[in-house]
Amino acid sequence: MTSSDGLLAEQRAYYRARAPEYDDWWQRRGRYDRGEAFQTVWENDVADAERALAGFGATGSVIEFAAGTGNWTRHLAKTASHVTALDASPETLAIAASKLERGANLEGGVGEIDRVELVTGDIFGFEPDRTYDVAFMGFWHSHVPADRLESFWALVDRCLAPDGRFFLIDNAHPSLTQGLAGSPLEVHTTGETATSGQGTIDLAGGTAERTLTDGRSFEIVKRYFTPASLAEALGDLGWAVEARTTERFFLVADGRRRDQP
Ligand SMILES: C[S@@+](CC[C@H](N)C(=O)[O-])C[C@H]1O[C@@H](n2cnc3c(N)ncnc32)[C@H](O)[C@@H]1O
Repeated sequence: MTSSDGLLAEQRAYYRARAPEYDDWWQRRGRYDRGEAFQTVWENDVADAERALAGFGATGSVIEFAAGTGNWTRHLAKTASHVTALDASPETLAIAASKLERGANLEGGVGEIDRVELVTGDIFGFEPDRTYDVAFMGFWHSHVPADRLESFWALVDRCLAPDGRFFLIDNAHPSLTQGLAGSPLEVHTTGETATSGQGTIDLAGGTAERTLTDGRSFEIVKRYFTPASLAEALGDLGWAVEARTTERFFLVADGRRRDQP
């Protein structure tokens, strides 16, 4: 048992409970609707991240960590020959499955869905039984606690073939979103805490409070990186990283082992 075990259990419970309302955030609907100006920047940033992934080219076999409701799974399945989409929440994976099925029906029932294997499981207990060409993680890296960072990247290393690559997209540091019209994000003066539409963020401690529409509240891991701090943290673990942010919202990075041929 490590010190983050309780927090990780609460984080898994949070995402299971949040599954039916998760895509409201991604689609900026309901309580996440922040008006037109915000929506325009959001959509541009999503398109920027999608172009970055397309440019990266997630070909061959892909492991997707924390696939959730499958917002990235279908993109991956367009370019990959196989996707193992892993998540601890059966509720989010059921939504991912229905999106893949819907897409397959629209496209004549063949292709992407047949290339995806949805796997319910805890990332921190996962052991690959094969190697992959690409490891992908969307909005997952910020949920890895500091005391698990090294073992998580050791898992990525075990998952990847000798010339394997990774691609990561996540939330940019809140300071980048502060001041945007409609954005509720506010970094407080000491820089150690912030508030968002979802609750209080402990920037120094790497945790956040999250509430659901029914009022239930959870504490989860939320560690923000800048492009420089990500490159440094992963560089210390032996990875060569190219990282940047989109205009306001996202951190986008890719890389490979530093000693790779
Ligand atoms: C912020 S969501 C990201 C989902 C998806 N990748 C996306 O971009 O929309 C985080 C996901 O991590 C999953 N998760 C949380 N803890 C996990 C764990 N220990 N092992 C596997 N998945 C976990 C949650 O169920 C949730 O689907």
